[in-house]
Amino acid sequence: MINIDKKSLEKAYRLFETGDIDNIEIGTTQGLVQIHKYIFGGLYDFAGQMRTVNISKGGFRFANALYLKEILVKIEELPENSFEEIIIKYVEMNIAHPFMEGNGRTMRIWLDMLLKSKLKKLVNWQFVSKELYLQAMERSPINDLELRTLLAANLTDEIDNREIIFKGIDQSYYYEGYEKGSDEE
Ligand SMILES: Nc1ncnc2c1ncn2[C@@H]1O[C@H](COP(=O)(O)OP(=O)(O)O)[C@@H](O)[C@H]1O
Ligand SMILES: [Mg+2]
Repeated sequence: MINIDKKSLEKAYRLFETGDIDNIEIGTTQGLVQIHKYIFGGLYDFAGQMRTVNISKGGFRFANALYLKEILVKIEELPENSFEEIIIKYVEMNIAHPFMEGNGRTMRIWLDMLLKSKLKKLVNWQFVSKELYLQAMERSPINDLELRTLLAANLTDEIDNREIIFKGIDQSYYYEGYEKGSDEE
C-alpha cells in the first residue's frame, strides 16, 4: 500500500513537472478520469475506470454504481462560474465517488484545475488541516458550509508557485494516510 502511494505521489509530481496537467480537460468527468489514469496507471488495474460496486465510508454510502454514468453526466452540466458553484460541483463529485480508490487525491487536483481556470486561484492545501478537511468532507453531503468556509480561507492567487503546488500534493496524500519519507531511513 505504502509503495503504491509513494509511486502514485511521484506520478502526481510528474503530472505537474512535465506540464501534462495542461492537456487535461477541466471540470469534466473525462478530465477526472484522465487524472486518475495518470496518477494510478500501472499501480491499480482499475486506473481510469469507473467502479461497478457500491462503496461507503464512515457510514455514508456513495452513489449507486448502477446510476453512476447518468449521475456523472448531470454533474458535468453543473455551473462553475463562482467559488460557491465550484464547491457544489466538487461536493457532488465526491458523492459520486466514481473510482474504487483514489477519489480524494484525484478530485483535489480536479478541483484546483477548476479554481485556477475560472477564478485564477488555488487551494493552499498545506495550510488546510487534515482533521478539519476530512470533517468538512464528511459533513458536505448534508451541508457544504464548513467546507466552503475552510477552503475559502485558504485560497491563494499564486497559481504558478511550484512550492505551493508540490506542498499541496504532499498534503493531499497526507490526508489519505501517506506521509512522504515515512517509509525511508
Ligand atoms: N464519510 C465521508 N463522507 C463523504 N466523503 C468522505 C467521507 N470520508 C471520506 N470522504 C472523502 O473521500 C476521500 C477519500 O476517498 P478515496 O477514494 O479513499 O480517495 P484516496 O484513495 O485518494 O484516499 C476523502 O479525501 C474525502 O474527501
Ligand atoms: Mg483511499
